[in-house]
Amino acid sequence: MTNTITNPVLETIKNRRSTRAFTDQPVTRAELDAILSAGCWAPSGHGHQGWHFSALTTAEHTARMAAAVRTALDLPESYCFYGAPCHIIVSYEATHQHAWLDGTAAVENMLLAAESLGLAACWINQIRVCCDDPAVRALLTEYGIPQDHTVIASIALGHGAAITAPKPRREGVITIVE
Ligand SMILES: Cc1cc2nc3c(=O)[nH]c(=O)nc-3n(C[C@H](O)[C@H](O)[C@H](O)COP(=O)(O)O)c2cc1C
Repeated sequence: MTNTITNPVLETIKNRRSTRAFTDQPVTRAELDAILSAGCWAPSGHGHQGWHFSALTTAEHTARMAAAVRTALDLPESYCFYGAPCHIIVSYEATHQHAWLDGTAAVENMLLAAESLGLAACWINQIRVCCDDPAVRALLTEYGIPQDHTVIASIALGHGAAITAPKPRREGVITIVE
């Protein structure tokens, strides 16, 4: 799809990549606050905003979370959220009708906010898959995720250590009716 109009927001949307290699450089508190705020400004059905965002900002907490997920899903020893220095867990009231829609809108807002700040990020699916495993749930509770929430996704966040090439976008998915 080619288009003739561009602006900083459209550039950010196009430049965002899933990054899977990070440097040790930490995410500053100001950057993290800006990204979490972008999550809070996502649209939500009826404006319900039934989400919660927990940000793990130390290697120790991230490693504990990765280890619990690794054990729950029988993943290889190397599994570590790509070594990102920060990890944001997005959860939502599990039984709410818009949980997945609202939650994923918040995830995308934060991915775009990260890109706009020159940071790198990757959507992570595995905590979602095993969030009701007892050991994973215990850790989620310790990290502030409410008991009645399900995990929507998490985000590995930091400074990219490698440039990710864009995946070609599928053709033929747009119909313009005039
Ligand atoms: C629902 C969903 C789950 C994903 N889970 C993972 C994941 O667990 N690990 C990962 O490396 N990437 C994950 N991704 C990222 C996709 O692989 C990525 O968006 C896709 O390959 C397109 O690349 P791009 O994000 O650079 O455009 C996920 C993306 C979505 C939307």
